[in-house]
Amino acid sequence: MSILEQLQINNKQIPEHYLKMSTEELEDRAFNIKNKLGKRLFIPGHHYQKDEVIQFSDTTGDSLKLAQVAAENKEAEYIVFCGVHFMAETADILTTKQQKVYLPDMRAGCSMADMADIYQTDRAWGKLQQLFGDTIIPLTYVNSTAAIKAFVGENGGATVTSSNAEKMVSWAFTQKERLLFLPDQHLGRNTAFQLGIPLENMAIWNPITNELEYEGSLEKIQVILWKGHCSVHENFTVNNVAEVREQFPEMKIIVHPECRHEVVQLADYAGSTNYIIERIQNAPPNTSFAIGTEMNLVKRIIKEHKDKHIISLNQNMCPCLTMNRIDLPHFVWCLESLETGFESNQIIVEEPAASNARLALDRMLTI
Ligand code: 13P
Ligand code: SF4
Repeated sequence: MSILEQLQINNKQIPEHYLKMSTEELEDRAFNIKNKLGKRLFIPGHHYQKDEVIQFSDTTGDSLKLAQVAAENKEAEYIVFCGVHFMAETADILTTKQQKVYLPDMRAGCSMADMADIYQTDRAWGKLQQLFGDTIIPLTYVNSTAAIKAFVGENGGATVTSSNAEKMVSWAFTQKERLLFLPDQHLGRNTAFQLGIPLENMAIWNPITNELEYEGSLEKIQVILWKGHCSVHENFTVNNVAEVREQFPEMKIIVHPECRHEVVQLADYAGSTNYIIERIQNAPPNTSFAIGTEMNLVKRIIKEHKDKHIISLNQNMCPCLTMNRIDLPHFVWCLESLETGFESNQIIVEEPAASNARLALDRMLTI
C-alpha cells in the first residue's frame, strides 16, 4: 500500500495539546515512557533525524545498519521508527508478527521512493522483457516501497543500500547479463561506473514516457537506470564543488552517492551516511571537509567535531523535509499512545508483498 493510500485510510491527526507543550515537558514524557517500557520498546533512528528525537534513539545508523538491527531484535514489542516510511516498512518486514512497528508521523515519506510505483514498474518490466528477453535482474535501493521490493524479490533480485551497492551490483552480474536499478539513477550510475561499466553502456528508463533512453546499440546496454532521484542530494552541484575548491583549496569534499555523477566524480570521497561519519571521525584534528548530504546530519557532525573545519558543500541547503516531519510532539504522541493502541500510525506490510519483499531483503542481508 502506498503512503498516500495509507494516509487516506488512517488520517488521525496529532492532538492539539502536544503541539502546545514545552520542550521540557515533551522530553520528560519521552524519558518516562522509555523508562517504563524498557526493552519492550525499541527506537531506531536514522542519521538524518533531528537532534530533538535522535537523543531518544536506542541505536542510530544508516539504512543498512537499521535494517540489520531490526532483523536482529526479537524482544521489543513496539518499534518506534525515527526515519521515513520505507524504513519502517523494512523493519515491519524483517521483524516477527508479534512485533509492531510505528512511524510517529505518517507524512514522513521519501520523495525518491515515490518516484517508482508498482504499476509503472510492471509496465517497464514488460517492455524491457520484450527488448532484452530473460537477461535482466532487478535491484532496488531500499529507498523504495514494499511493493517494489516484493517485485524485485519475486524476480530473483535484491535490495541495495548506499553502503553495499558495489557488492550487490557485482553480485547481480553473476546472475544475469543486465540489471534494472530502481529508483535512484544516481546511486545506480555512480556504483556501476565505479565497477568499470562505461556510461555509454547505461540506459535510462523513463517511467513517465515509458521509454528507454539510450545512445548507441541496444545490445551493449548493461545497466538500466530508473529515472528517479533524491530531491535533497540533487541540489549539490558542480558549481558548489568549484566554489569550495576556490575558497578552501585544502578542503576535502565528501558526498553521498545519491549526488549526481559529475559531483561524485569531482569529490574526494563518496559513501553512505555511516561512511561520511566515520571518515570525518577518523581524520586528524584541523582537517577540513565540505559535506554533500542532508543538513541535520551535517549540523550534527559540525557540532561533534569542533577540532575540524566542516561546512556543507552547498551553503543554501535545507534538511530533508520528510525526515523532519518526525519531531518531538509527534514522537511523544506516538510513545504515549502505544499501550492504548495506535493503529493509525502502525506500519503493516500485508502478505504476499511482505514475503516477496523479504526475499529481496534477505538476499542482501546474506550476501
Ligand atoms: P544511508 O543512510 O543508507 O546512506 O541513506 C541515505 C538516505 O537517503 C536515507 O534516506
Ligand atoms: Fe528520501 Fe532523499 Fe530524504 Fe533520503 S534524503 S529520505 S532519499 S528524500
